[in-house]
Amino acid sequence: MAAEQPTATTRPRPGTGSAAGDATAVAHPNIALVKYWGKRDEQLVLPWTDSLSMTLDVFPTTTRVRLDPGAGEDTVTLDGTPLEGEPRRRVTAFLDLVRERAGSPLRAVVDTRNTVPTGAGLASSASGFAALATAAGAAYGLGLDATGLSRLARRGSGSASRSVFGGFAIWHAGQPDRGGDPDLGSYAEPVPVPVAALDPALVVAVVDAGPKAVSSREAMRRTVATSPLYRPWAASSQADLTEMQEALRRADLDAVGEVAERNALGMHATMLAARPAVRYLSAATVTVLDAVLELRRAGVSAWATMDAGPNVKVLCRRSEADRVAGVVREAVRGGSVHIAGPGPGARLLDAAA
Ligand code: ADP
Ligand code: DP6
Ligand code: CO
Repeated sequence: MAAEQPTATTRPRPGTGSAAGDATAVAHPNIALVKYWGKRDEQLVLPWTDSLSMTLDVFPTTTRVRLDPGAGEDTVTLDGTPLEGEPRRRVTAFLDLVRERAGSPLRAVVDTRNTVPTGAGLASSASGFAALATAAGAAYGLGLDATGLSRLARRGSGSASRSVFGGFAIWHAGQPDRGGDPDLGSYAEPVPVPVAALDPALVVAVVDAGPKAVSSREAMRRTVATSPLYRPWAASSQADLTEMQEALRRADLDAVGEVAERNALGMHATMLAARPAVRYLSAATVTVLDAVLELRRAGVSAWATMDAGPNVKVLCRRSEADRVAGVVREAVRGGSVHIAGPGPGARLLDAAA
């Protein structure tokens, strides 16, 4: 079965539909079951390993890009507040790349809104740059297909390459040793998964919605440069990917969960061994991990994964997600708990009626 086609989740706001020079896009975060952690090329955002994820049906980012012929610089607002410093630089550098490809000197007004907490390890950079690539690609008239959009989104944030697609997606590292243009070989594509048989859900436990102290970018840079555990993890992650693909094919949720949990814990082990160490996991994270273990002991299929932050995503069956969410809610006390299923790929909003 093919991955789900993008579906509408957000209606166009009046005056913010998509036309030449003015486009609005929506994209959702994705959570990797086999992680991306480590770049072999910082400039092109080429990873050392392949990764595989599920795009969520919660927490959309909506981004409008409007070309402004009179402007001397880009204006970028996130949730209504002007971006400054590194987050702004990342967006303007991304727009420079788009302008170069479009042969356009025009600056843009970017208005982006996250519904996911920004920089909390809940993949805001994935939904953010997938939405930006889709909106900017249309506003500047790049005419990219989904593969081209995935490559472009990758340049903003590696994980964004996967949020271009709905359902399950694999991001190919590309082949570093085979010559040719390395940019072309590194893109995401949908993974066919029997979704009805797998019946997957991710219960998202937000134990801390605040921004991380160390960005994913910096943390993985330090890990690759200094962690003695990085290379062994990268090698085992490729083996995890093969096992994951087989488990998904046969809709074996326990095998999927087992591989996902060990791959994530191994990734965190690489950062704990970096110098200086990067530790995203908190006491609240471990409390949720204990609850997940209790659920498994009680016969519920529940498996945890964590990204670059303390928040936990629990893979389980959709049919058992309410029960899992109830147990997780008890464990997080004060945090929030959300149930996510497989969501749609990035899409442009239609021109406003
Ligand atoms: P996360 O776990 O949220 O993905 P990262 O450290 O990977 O955290 O990335 C957070 C950064 O992603 C932000 O500081 C900002 O630079 C960028 N970002 C997040 N959301 C958006 C958005 N909607 N538009 C543009 N950039 C964004
Ligand atoms: C732990 O894609 O946020 O979430 O490419 O530097 O923007 P940059 O990093 P980012 O890294 C995500 C790391 C992860 C695992 C994953 O999503 O695969
Ligand atoms: Co990120």
